[in-house]
This record gives sequence, structure tokens and C-alpha cells, in this order.
Amino acid sequence: MTLGIIIIVLVLLILLPTAYASLIGAPFVPASPSLVEMIVDAADVKEGDVIYELGAGNGQVMIAFAKRKGVKVLGFELSPVLYLVAWLNLKLKRLRNCHLYLKNFYSYPLAEADVVYFFLVPRTVNKLAVKLVSELKPGSRVISYAFPIDGWEPSRVIKENGKPGIFIYTV
Ligand SMILES: C[S@@+](CC[C@H](N)C(=O)[O-])C[C@H]1O[C@@H](n2cnc3c(N)ncnc32)[C@H](O)[C@@H]1O
Repeated sequence: MTLGIIIIVLVLLILLPTAYASLIGAPFVPASPSLVEMIVDAADVKEGDVIYELGAGNGQVMIAFAKRKGVKVLGFELSPVLYLVAWLNLKLKRLRNCHLYLKNFYSYPLAEADVVYFFLVPRTVNKLAVKLVSELKPGSRVISYAFPIDGWEPSRVIKENGKPGIFIYTV
């Protein structure tokens, strides 16, 4: 009986934040692996750049960014299950320039970022735009996978046949 209650509580503790992340941000769908290197190239990172991934999912994009020389990558993930998957992936790759947070990205300041990457649903992208405008320093790059930011003029759009677009903005 007690074991049953413990299992139910554990399942709820894991599932509720995951469902919450889907509601307030986006459900977990990984960016197409064949486009991940394109996303990283599009960010045009330089040594010393600080890159934020908002909603890190399984960590695949963080890992690709972290392989670039001299960068620091911060990832934020609200779902404990995905956080664990990403954490394990980062550990296996032994990447020391990555910092993963089990955290709602809305509660973290973005002022230090040179590049912000996310793959979220349109509603969240447009809500996030307000935070991006008020917190990012001039010249930082914003990369949105699949969905553009309403009212923002992209400096570049990458569109592969039949694949979601990559929208690049300079603040
Ligand atoms: C569509 S997936 C994208 C995963 C990854 N960024 C990629 O490109 O492959 C969106 C992720 O954002 C996470 N998420 C949604 N809202 C969030 C929030 N407010 N704070 C942190 N993570 C969030 C979800 O749990 C999910 O893993």
C-alpha cells in the first residue's frame, strides 16, 4: 500500500512538470537531427560566446553547440525526465562547457547570452519575444526553429525542402 502511494507520488512528481512544460512552453519534439549542425552554423558562434538553449529537450542541440571552440552553453529544461536524459547525454560526451538547469527559462535572466536558441510553439515564441527584447544585449542572435517571431524581421531564413525553417534574428 505504502509502496503504491510512493510510486504514484513519484510518477506525479515526474509527469506533472513534464505536462506543465508542454502547456506553458512546448511538448517535447526534437529538432530534426539532420538540421542541428545547420542551426549551429547559422548562429555564427565565436570564441567566448555564451549560448542559451531554452527548452533543452534531450540535449542534442546543446551538445552540437558545445563542440564549437571556446563557447559556453547553458540549457534550461523543465521536465525532469528530459532533464535527466540531457544530463546523461552531456555526461557521456564529457562536455565541461555545458551547464544544464532543471528550471523554467522564464525565470532566468538572458542578459549574458550572445546566442539564444529555442524550438517552441508559436504562442510561446511570441510570449518569449517580450523577454528577449527587454533582456538581450544589442547584437545578440536569436534562432527560432520551425516558427518565426511575429513582427520581427529575420536577418536570415534557412529552409530545406520539406523541413521546418530556421529563423535567425539579430537583436
Ligand atoms: C519542442 S522541444 C525542443 C527540444 C530541443 N530544444 C530541440 O530543439 O531539439 C521543447 C522543449 O522545451 C521544454 N520546455 C517548454 N517550456 C519550458 C520552460 N518554460 N522552461 C524550460 N523548458 C521548457 C519542453 O519540456 C521540451 O523539452
